[in-house]
Amino acid sequence: MKTYLVTGGAGFIGSNYIHYMFKKYGDDIRIINVDALTYAGNLENLKDVEERDNYTFVKANICDRDAINKIFEENEIDRVVHFAAESHVDRSIVNPEIFVETNVLGTATMLNAAKKAWELPDGTFKEGKKFLHVSTDEVYGSLDDDPNAYFYETTLYDPHSPYSASKASSDMLVKAYMDTYKFPANITNCSNNYGPYQFPEKLIPLVISNALAGKNLPVYGDGKNVRDWLFVEDHAKAIDMVQEKGKLFETYNVGGHNEKQNIEIVKTIIDVLREELDDSDPRKAKLSYDLIKYVTDRKGHDRRYAIAPDKIKKEIGWEPETMFKEGIRKTIKWYFDHNDWMEHVTSGDYEKYYAKMYDKR
Ligand SMILES: NC(=O)c1ccc[n+]([C@@H]2O[C@H](COP(=O)([O-])OP(=O)(O)OC[C@H]3O[C@@H](n4cnc5c(N)ncnc54)[C@H](O)[C@@H]3O)[C@@H](O)[C@H]2O)c1
Repeated sequence: MKTYLVTGGAGFIGSNYIHYMFKKYGDDIRIINVDALTYAGNLENLKDVEERDNYTFVKANICDRDAINKIFEENEIDRVVHFAAESHVDRSIVNPEIFVETNVLGTATMLNAAKKAWELPDGTFKEGKKFLHVSTDEVYGSLDDDPNAYFYETTLYDPHSPYSASKASSDMLVKAYMDTYKFPANITNCSNNYGPYQFPEKLIPLVISNALAGKNLPVYGDGKNVRDWLFVEDHAKAIDMVQEKGKLFETYNVGGHNEKQNIEIVKTIIDVLREELDDSDPRKAKLSYDLIKYVTDRKGHDRRYAIAPDKIKKEIGWEPETMFKEGIRKTIKWYFDHNDWMEHVTSGDYEKYYAKMYDKR
């Protein structure tokens, strides 16, 4: 039975990945989830797995060398899937230092701990161990409006925000470990994810939450910045496939050719919500494009991201299963049906969940 150490598993993609893995492998794997539970970590995302015998949660910061080494000492870890990061570009513009701390130093701590646990006296590594570093397409910088321009694995890094600069630095560290020590790792660079359990500071859950509350829907600049959207479960599947079928030391770009302007996303959400709400629901009357409010553009806002997923498709056979039309409807319905979750997150109540569930243990 393989033991996975997942970092940042209480966040958006990490929790979806843990659900995906238990759905796929059931009792055949063990998962240890290490998360510091920052504002973005929410254990309510994992309510339905926390009683499993093959799931363990450890509250720790990935920068805490002793805590991370201890996990490796006490468990024979086979796979590391490293999600933990500060992930919001806007926050990185206000407070870049925490991004360097978590994303760069935290990744270095994870790499060192895995290297220490897995390295043999002759400098090679124990058979079958693998570290997957989850990264972003934002490290590649910005594309112009030429529809034939894409990010490939060979595209030179050109990060612009403190967030993408910190992720680029962490990627470089992983590359350095692979080159220097032949450390058994892969990197995935994925486009924007959407789906359940995303903290409502990010575009899609923010717009859903505000639209249902009849609040303004802020859109940066002219609303024409393009992002390449992927349903989060497809990302989870890609990560698993890269770890099981990918070539060690390789980078794989992950994306689904779903380029949309931000304004298109906002209008789609309004349209779908109007379809979902009963005519008698008072929220429906307030829901219209009039809620859209253009606001001063984000500093250094990248214009367009677009991933070429040719390599992962050709070498590993991964393809996205959920097309945007279906995925966005599923996502909206999920937030719609999980009003409690949204209320706990927006009120901060989710932070009490840890105390309730874990402080007593
Ligand atoms: N969201 C996207 O669209 C997207 C796209 C591509 C890649 N990524 C990458 O995927 C990863 C996960 O992104 P997400 O959107 O799920 O982020 P998120 O902000 O929702 O979750 C991050 C998680 O990491 C935890 N964390 C933060 N700092 C920590 C620390 N110092 N120690 C331990 N845990 C810590 C948080 O508590 C949270 O649970 C990140 O590495 C991000 O760069 C995200």
